Amino acid sequence: MKGVLYYFSGTGNTKWVADRFKENFKSYGIDIKLINMESEEPINIKCYDFIIIGSVVHSNMEPKIVSDFLKKLPDTKKKMKTIIYSTQGGKSSVAVLSMAKKISQKGYDIVVQSAIRMPNNCYFISGKKPTKKEENEILKDASEKVKELIKIFIDNKRLKENNSIFKMGIGKISSKLFKNSLPKLSKNLTAIEECKKCGLCLRNCPKNNITFEDGHAVFHSKCMLCLRCMNICPINGIRYKNKKIEQVQRDRINVLNLNK
Ligand SMILES: Cc1cc2nc3c(=O)[nH]c(=O)nc-3n(C[C@H](O)[C@H](O)[C@H](O)COP(=O)(O)O)c2cc1C
Repeated sequence: MKGVLYYFSGTGNTKWVADRFKENFKSYGIDIKLINMESEEPINIKCYDFIIIGSVVHSNMEPKIVSDFLKKLPDTKKKMKTIIYSTQGGKSSVAVLSMAKKISQKGYDIVVQSAIRMPNNCYFISGKKPTKKEENEILKDASEKVKELIKIFIDNKRLKENNSIFKMGIGKISSKLFKNSLPKLSKNLTAIEECKKCGLCLRNCPKNNITFEDGHAVFHSKCMLCLRCMNICPINGIRYKNKKIEQVQRDRINVLNLNK
């Protein structure tokens, strides 16, 4: 048996969970290939027996980069077994239901649908910052949860969490408002004068939204607010509303294969 896991991760959490899937499936002798949705690689699912889709949650839903990927995912006639997971700062999210709906119409058989809590990377906008102790507990629980999900999958059972159509409707409204306000929100990002112009943010922005102009990093209006740039800056020189933000993802962001 061979699987493929497609993920989008802004600051490392969703990729960290993807790595747990890979590691734990391996203990059953099952290999899964991890593919970043940002890669230009053509989508080819024919040589796999099952598929896993992992997404971050931004304002209750999966970001556009993920819905665009789901649109491109080819139809399948063989009812391909599918695991869908999200990572979010809260305990649950209906983003998994939204993603499941989009691809079950294409013939995918959603056997596991689960929202996995991870440390909140946007505590300065909403929610709270977990303490180091809470963060370790969240990571431990997330790791255990992946093991449980894999066991359910291996035992040919099913699990559909966060399945409320009503909550999904509300989530979609708030997500739409968020997406519409992204060009405005991206104006909140600025780089400090001491910026070394190393270009790490520019090379790793999933939206190619950053350029250097007249020696300054300029944030344009395509930003999706994934917060990758803020968390990878070697001098923590990116400000949100002129405020310095603690790089809470420093420990996990390196799991992304960054362009150095
Ligand atoms: C712009 C933005 C919006 C977010 N909205 C939510 C949300 O609605 N609910 C939630 O529980 N977490 C929310 N979060 C927190 C992230 O979903 C969470 O930290 C996630 O694990 C980050 O994954 P990543 O590191 O793979 O990008 C949000 C984060 C960002 C940056």
